[in-house]
Amino acid sequence: MKVLIVGGGGREHAIADAIRRSSRKPEIFCAPGNAGTACIARNLPILADNIEGLLSFAKDNGIDLTVVGPEIPLCAGIVDRFQDAGLRIFGPCAAAARLEGDKAWAKDLLVEARIPTARSKTFTRIHQAKDYIIARNSAQVIKASGLAAGKGVVVCENAVDAIAAAKRMLLDKEFGDAGKCIVVEDKLIGEELSIHALIDGDTVYILESSQDHKRAHDGDTGPNTGGMGAYSPAPIATEAVYKMVESDVLVPILDILRRHEIPFKGVLYVGLMITAGGPKVLEFNCRFGDPETQVILPRLKTDILDVFDAVIDGKLCDITLDWDPRPAVCVVLASAGYPGKYEKGIPITGLDAAAACDDAVVYHAGTRSRGDTVLTEGGRVLGVTGLGTTIQEACEAAYRCAGQIDFEGKSNRSDIAHRAL
Ligand code: AMP
Ligand code: GLY
Repeated sequence: MKVLIVGGGGREHAIADAIRRSSRKPEIFCAPGNAGTACIARNLPILADNIEGLLSFAKDNGIDLTVVGPEIPLCAGIVDRFQDAGLRIFGPCAAAARLEGDKAWAKDLLVEARIPTARSKTFTRIHQAKDYIIARNSAQVIKASGLAAGKGVVVCENAVDAIAAAKRMLLDKEFGDAGKCIVVEDKLIGEELSIHALIDGDTVYILESSQDHKRAHDGDTGPNTGGMGAYSPAPIATEAVYKMVESDVLVPILDILRRHEIPFKGVLYVGLMITAGGPKVLEFNCRFGDPETQVILPRLKTDILDVFDAVIDGKLCDITLDWDPRPAVCVVLASAGYPGKYEKGIPITGLDAAAACDDAVVYHAGTRSRGDTVLTEGGRVLGVTGLGTTIQEACEAAYRCAGQIDFEGKSNRSDIAHRAL
């Protein structure tokens, strides 16, 4: 069996690693992959957004299954193209991926489905946004409606900052076309939770919970990033919270999608704020989270290829997922300057010593090889996941292993999982 993974970050390395554990022993390809996937798969010089290039490769090389990591190809319709060509692929079609690619539309659906979410309004003109922000007279969150690599959200405590953020998006085009429409939303107070749910068009299957750390600095301060670390399970995800998320969010969103004749097959990521008034939806993503995948998949004991098959074939009701009860904690090692400008091409040392840690695994995110040397190639460079009998132990394992690794400018948060300890 041949499997193609689309993408080249930590999430894709974790997916490749889970597929490598399959009893079907597939041949794995990764496009474009990174220095970590190169050790367990064949990397291809095809970028994740080159849909026609990926399709040609899959057709010419008899790929049996394609698994899509990032949102850009999903929103651009990679699943529709592959299905039209008769190829098996894991992920939602473009119409369903719009839940992530168009936040303004997703908010409309949330309201239509009466799903709990922050009060908001959508704008394309700055003076109208400004009037609304002043009238709301409370902390607001400004969101670019389109895709902005997880960086298009600015949480503002006052109207001055909110108007400045709206101007940067609408007038200065900081996020290009992604910010020509913005969502202005009330700031919610509470603890965040990420829920991933497999959906096969009909059946919803909620995966083990996780929580990521979106802010760059300790104490959840600093700018939003793609995610600086994660842990699973999240203690805030009690049985009652799970039930509420299923009945108040997942069932109604699936119903409303059906009413709009949009089939969702794949994994839906629901970003939630657990407020005093119950869980409220912050965002939907149409794919596995990064770095949440790096703490969820190491805990999955079921053969992941059986899971992908069940979703694609509409047979989720026939399977039960088996989990390693041990918690996992992932610490992201980033380049100096991330999420702003950073340098690339810096040699990484200590990877062999890190690989020898038997209670941790190193997932590559932004890396590439030059001969025998591994170099930094992105903002988030590596994700080090520790496993332990408690979150505390998993956390210690992750930091112990991460301490073996070094590169100039290496930066990481020192308080991952602090809320769960
Ligand atoms: P999103 O991409 O919409 O999840 O936003 C990224 C991050 O911004 C979230 O993980 C939260 O930390 C924060 N955020 C988004 N919306 C809100 C909100 N309404 N209230 C408070 N924080 C928010
Ligand atoms: N960790 C958040 C995301 O994947 O969007």
